Amino acid sequence: MAHSFDFPLAPGPQPDRLPIGRDKPWLAPLAGYSDLPFRNLCREYGAACCVTEMVSAKGLAYNGTNTWRVLATVPEDTPLVVQLFGAEAPFLADAVRTLREAGYSFFDLNMGCSVPKVSRQGAGSAMFRDLENAAACAKAMIEAAEPGHMSFKLRLGLNEENKPWLDFALRLEDMGAGLITLHPRTARQGFGGEARWEELARAKEKLSIPVLASGDLFTAEDGVRCLDATGVDGVMYARGALTNPAIFAEHTALVNGRNLPARSKADLKAMISRHVALISALGDEENAVFRLRSIVPRYVRTLPGIRKLRQELCHCTSLARLDALLEEFLGGEEDVAEVLTDARGNALYSGNTSPEQAWAGEKA
Ligand SMILES: Cc1cc2nc3c(=O)[nH]c(=O)nc-3n(C[C@H](O)[C@H](O)[C@H](O)COP(=O)(O)O)c2cc1C
Repeated sequence: MAHSFDFPLAPGPQPDRLPIGRDKPWLAPLAGYSDLPFRNLCREYGAACCVTEMVSAKGLAYNGTNTWRVLATVPEDTPLVVQLFGAEAPFLADAVRTLREAGYSFFDLNMGCSVPKVSRQGAGSAMFRDLENAAACAKAMIEAAEPGHMSFKLRLGLNEENKPWLDFALRLEDMGAGLITLHPRTARQGFGGEARWEELARAKEKLSIPVLASGDLFTAEDGVRCLDATGVDGVMYARGALTNPAIFAEHTALVNGRNLPARSKADLKAMISRHVALISALGDEENAVFRLRSIVPRYVRTLPGIRKLRQELCHCTSLARLDALLEEFLGGEEDVAEVLTDARGNALYSGNTSPEQAWAGEKA
């Protein structure tokens, strides 16, 4: 299928199998966030595998430029899983075939998202409303993908009265799914309450295919605690990575019995500068500066003096000025680990805020 696209779009050769293990933390799919620069930043800190933002199977069929933009990748962005959403088997299977032709190899179906744009189509967590259709979609995708290259990211179900995830996951396993990720909350819960890690332990006990955990992994300590408590095969960081991409290095240190690496102001500055560089490498300085106005506060939002930096960023129109601001606010080797808190409790990414609202909130 032809597509008009002005970004690099060249998936590198993908491995036969995805890296799965205690010491192989993944970056979760994050609509509005897990784009190419952010994925590569996370990889530099040790993310073993990354998942794209969710991509509409129908959008791909109608060849939307924005859909292909979300798929922008480069050979270093490997291994890569493309997450799709939709509720019509022919579109979903076609999406897998089209993307395979373009060089992508691993695919995931979103069965967890409940934002209106997705659930109106019966997609995301709304797939739990019609499990026969969900099974037909899964079968068509599994057949379109290489054996073992199709995975599924599930919530528990729609609400307390509808939690069919385990039977459905067993069906997926029988059909040939390569792995399951479970975010153990119902759709109705949104991001409220606590993720029920005990369901992850159940998934691990009942399924033979690998199980990845998602849910309330705000710090590397949370990730390792989840591995130990549930026995899952690996973890995916979502909100934890949004505020701290170095979470992957921290995870690797902890699972290997090492202390957490230090976090100085200089480390933060280097991380932000690297994120800027990865965005501007795509050739658009104006966009890089615009994006950084929201990205910088995300990384440093609990540091003293952040309000002033935020105000200055509003008037910042060049990368040179951004550099000067970072030097002014983040110069020095001072250890800031204590003042940097995790994403827990941040109104943007917690409570009942949907990912879409969170995203809109951050952009506003
Ligand atoms: C801003 C945002 C965007 C998200 N986008 C997606 C998405 O595109 N696909 C998906 O399956 N999950 C998405 N999620 C859910 C996360 O991948 C993850 O399952 C969820 O945040 C629970 O993990 P956490 O509590 O460790 O953040 C998103 C979450 C957030 C906060």
